[in-house]
Amino acid sequence: MDAIARRAGTPCYIYSAAGILSRYRAYDEAFGAAPHQVFFAVKANSNLAVLALLAKAGAGFDIVSGGELFRVLKAGGDPAKVVFSGVGKTAPEVEYALESGIRGFNCESEAELSLIDSLAARQGKKARAALRVNPDVDAETHPYISTGLRENKFGIAMEEVEAVYGRARRFQNLILDGVSCHIGSQLLNSSPLVEALDRVLELVERLRAAGTAIGHLDLGGGLGVPYEPGDEAPSIGAYIERICERVKDRGLELMVEPGRSLVAESGLLVTRVLYRKSNGTKEFIIVDAAMNDLVRPSLYEAYHEILPVKRDPRRGTAKVDVVGPVCESGDFLALDREVANLLPGDLMALATAGAYGFVMASNYNSRPRAVEVLVEGASWRVVRTRETLDDLIRGESV
Ligand code: LLP
Repeated sequence: MDAIARRAGTPCYIYSAAGILSRYRAYDEAFGAAPHQVFFAVKANSNLAVLALLAKAGAGFDIVSGGELFRVLKAGGDPAKVVFSGVGKTAPEVEYALESGIRGFNCESEAELSLIDSLAARQGKKARAALRVNPDVDAETHPYISTGLRENKFGIAMEEVEAVYGRARRFQNLILDGVSCHIGSQLLNSSPLVEALDRVLELVERLRAAGTAIGHLDLGGGLGVPYEPGDEAPSIGAYIERICERVKDRGLELMVEPGRSLVAESGLLVTRVLYRKSNGTKEFIIVDAAMNDLVRPSLYEAYHEILPVKRDPRRGTAKVDVVGPVCESGDFLALDREVANLLPGDLMALATAGAYGFVMASNYNSRPRAVEVLVEGASWRVVRTRETLDDLIRGESV
């Protein structure tokens, strides 16, 4: 990390190819011979090199925008293994997806089905679709990343969904042969996911009884990862085996859309200490990464472990706020945290930053976005260069 930071500069995201691939394989292999497909939720980390790595390993992709589809195609992803989720797909995005020949759409309203049907007709195609049902299960996670409750904007309510499947028979250009759901993210307990699965399986049986042929069930993403000491996340293998057990012999292809659990633990944000200061009661470590680089602490009060790049036990520890240069009191990476007593010039790593890290970065305070690096075996390479000042004003005029 020291060598990478010296050459690539800081702040710097560093990803491990081996880490990402081992988690993808843990998913894929746990399904065994059961019909399945793992779709990486591109929103978690959309760097082209990361997508290319997963595409080569056989992953499909869950996208939520035309931009994500563009990235997947640029990375060599197979459009036939792409599902398009999201509540607000626009007509141009749907057209682009149909032209690209994606596998299907996870739809969230009747109006959306109608739009896809008419655009598919115009292209002389049949679009495959699933309805995203809202199973009304509490994911027991942060309210901003919980999506499976009735009050959330996502999905179609369980009471209404069968009628929607019924009415959807009128859409001549849709093959509505699936059910999908996604109840939330960062679940440290897989039981709500299994409860959602059970509700959706009952729905599948009711739909089949009513004459709708359902061939696949997409359970979404959501499996959590340990961020804080003491966090215990379900193992990928155990979770998949648990859900496969319930789905087997039902003639259903099982699909999952993991994001975080594939990439979070395989990424670090490395930052350099700029200053130390104290205001009498509080001690601050000011670093060169900020909320624009990693917004999770500010936005969700998320915890990212802070590690010294060089361990020196003689230095001891200090209780500090780790803050960045952005002009907001909400700009912090950690509050009241006992961390290694780092001094200006030292490197610090924020752990578990491979998911929802760089992808949520912004240019706030006109800060160029960080460099991204991929480590593969003993070598590493820059997979996105640090933005320049010219990048900051691209497209603008006086
Ligand atoms: N599928 C759908 C339809 C989703 O909405 C999401 C995430 C996923 C799959 C992937 O979920 P995962 O396996 O990563 O939990 N920015 C937040 C997380 C937002 C998640 C949104 N949807 C964070 O930093 O915690």
